[in-house]
Amino acid sequence: MITNTFGSSRSAALAAPIGPDEVDPHPSGRIDDVTTPGSSATSATQTPATQSPATQAPSARRKRMLTGDRPTGKLHLGHFVGSIENRVRLQHEYETFLIIADLHMLTTRNTRKDIDEVSRNARDMVLDQLAAGIDPEHATFYLQSAIPEVCELNTLFQNLVTVPRLERVPSLKDMARAAGKDEMPYGLLGYPVLQAADILCVKGDIVPVGKDNHAHVEVTREIARRFNFLYGEVFPIPELVESQITTLIGTDGQSKMSKSLGNAIMLSDDAATVRRKVIGMYTDPNRIRADIPGTVEGNPVFAYHDAFNDDPAEVADLKERYRAGRVGDVEVKDRLTSAVNRYLEPMRERRAGFERRSGLVDGIIVDGTERTRREVQVVLAEVKRAMGITGSYNQLRRKAERARKRRDA
Ligand code: TRP
Repeated sequence: MITNTFGSSRSAALAAPIGPDEVDPHPSGRIDDVTTPGSSATSATQTPATQSPATQAPSARRKRMLTGDRPTGKLHLGHFVGSIENRVRLQHEYETFLIIADLHMLTTRNTRKDIDEVSRNARDMVLDQLAAGIDPEHATFYLQSAIPEVCELNTLFQNLVTVPRLERVPSLKDMARAAGKDEMPYGLLGYPVLQAADILCVKGDIVPVGKDNHAHVEVTREIARRFNFLYGEVFPIPELVESQITTLIGTDGQSKMSKSLGNAIMLSDDAATVRRKVIGMYTDPNRIRADIPGTVEGNPVFAYHDAFNDDPAEVADLKERYRAGRVGDVEVKDRLTSAVNRYLEPMRERRAGFERRSGLVDGIIVDGTERTRREVQVVLAEVKRAMGITGSYNQLRRKAERARKRRDA
């Protein structure tokens, strides 16, 4: 079941109160003056902070979705059911930001080779999502490392959560173990804090993610509440959007689908590859002949039938015959091959359309990154005003200017 409860109890006052010491005598805002990436016309005609959607009252602002992935390779069916399906479904209802989280990737993979693969992986991942049905006219893709303001927000957020709290996040230990690290890197412990910076730097309202990320969204909510309590209502409290299928088992039946374990069906697999992978799937090991009754529960072949076969009558019939020992594995797998290929076929067609337009995906990422960066700069300026950080420097600057004038007089 989709359990997305969007009932938000947001305060009406999104605009942070500005303290008396923070009245900026330079409304042009030298402190908050921002340099936008690139030298495109858009950076010259930048919207003043006060008119940006990010600082509008919540009622006037379209709600936002933020989610994404680390650029470690192509996406598979597990990504699709875990999060991408929800992205596609919700992209028209929400203003959508899709992160390519290369800084998060560095918490477990940071060799020069890993980094050199980011641009290709980013391209592949975006193409996978376009093929899956993300509309580039509606969604904004961006590369995390090209928005340094996120790191600034991360630094500020690091003081809003404790080390023992982060040590209790189970996914981090799993990631450390999977990366072969016997001690927790500092950056990996901070993974959920950086993720909170991603979500809150555009004031994300909803976050559709797979199960391994649920605890990170919880940390984000705690950080947002803590910030609002200390400095005024700046952030929404983002809602987690769960998927119907929380974890998709791999083709080997041993653990969740993962490209590195070699048990994944990729969204970009062609029909023959899908066939080969399905035929090789793990199934009930006790069933050495077609006339031996088999077990459907926990059987990955039937988990996939449930997830991807659009013909429920066929699935019910296969299950019944399987339990009774009246169907061979070959037929069950043949029908699964057809079902998965029916599922992927529209994606293949859309992919071919996008692939024909050379440079399109790169342009989508670059335009999206610049647009996101402008949004983030507005939010960061609001954050620093709310915290009084802007005021600290403004005070020093005003005094320094007065002293200089006296000297020069
Ligand atoms: N943690 C996500 C993953 O498992 C990637 C990610 C980084 C993310 N920042 C995010 C997801 C913000 C949702 C929202 O790959």
